[in-house]
Amino acid sequence: METFYRNLLENNKKWVAENLEKDPDFFNRLKNGQQPPLLWIGCSDSRVPANEIIGANPGEVFVHRNIANMVIHTDMSMLSVLDYAVNVLKVKHIIVCGHYGCGGVQAAMTNSHIGLIDNWIRHIKDVYRFHQDELNAITEEKLRFDRFVELNVIEQVMDLAKTSIIQEAWKAGQSVHVHGWVYDIKDGLVNDLDITIKNNESLGAVYQLDL
Ligand code: CO
Repeated sequence: METFYRNLLENNKKWVAENLEKDPDFFNRLKNGQQPPLLWIGCSDSRVPANEIIGANPGEVFVHRNIANMVIHTDMSMLSVLDYAVNVLKVKHIIVCGHYGCGGVQAAMTNSHIGLIDNWIRHIKDVYRFHQDELNAITEEKLRFDRFVELNVIEQVMDLAKTSIIQEAWKAGQSVHVHGWVYDIKDGLVNDLDITIKNNESLGAVYQLDL
């Protein structure tokens, strides 16, 4: 069998042994359920692993990842994760974590045709259109790309707040804080965009649901 593939199973055995050595109760504590306080919505990019970046152990973070950390209101997978996180797990925090150098965001700045993914990236192009005056005014391409990554995260945070799931939770008095982060692949540091929202008041009037 191919070495790469065989190593995955070997690594798993080593990982189990290491964890048991540090804490013989490691798996026993996890087998009866989970109660993570955090939902992470991040990019699928292999360089942005949710747990490792924030030093989280198994059981500490509920994770949803897709290309360019998008919150798309017809995405049943995202909605199901969000509903379960908010209404069953009762997470207190949700982090949308984008990253500088995101290929999905970069593709959205160009006219490149990749394939089916063009239709996913189309949603990111909407973010460009909403902020085109600010973005087009940035002449240096690298800086424009970085700012586009940040604006995309901000839009996804607002898109979470627009969901019926989050607005119903807020209405019921549940504390859910939604944060926007950008991870920097080149140094591993997180840029907290400091846009935390805890109620629907910062949404445009038309998005505020009458609950
Ligand atoms: Co990405």
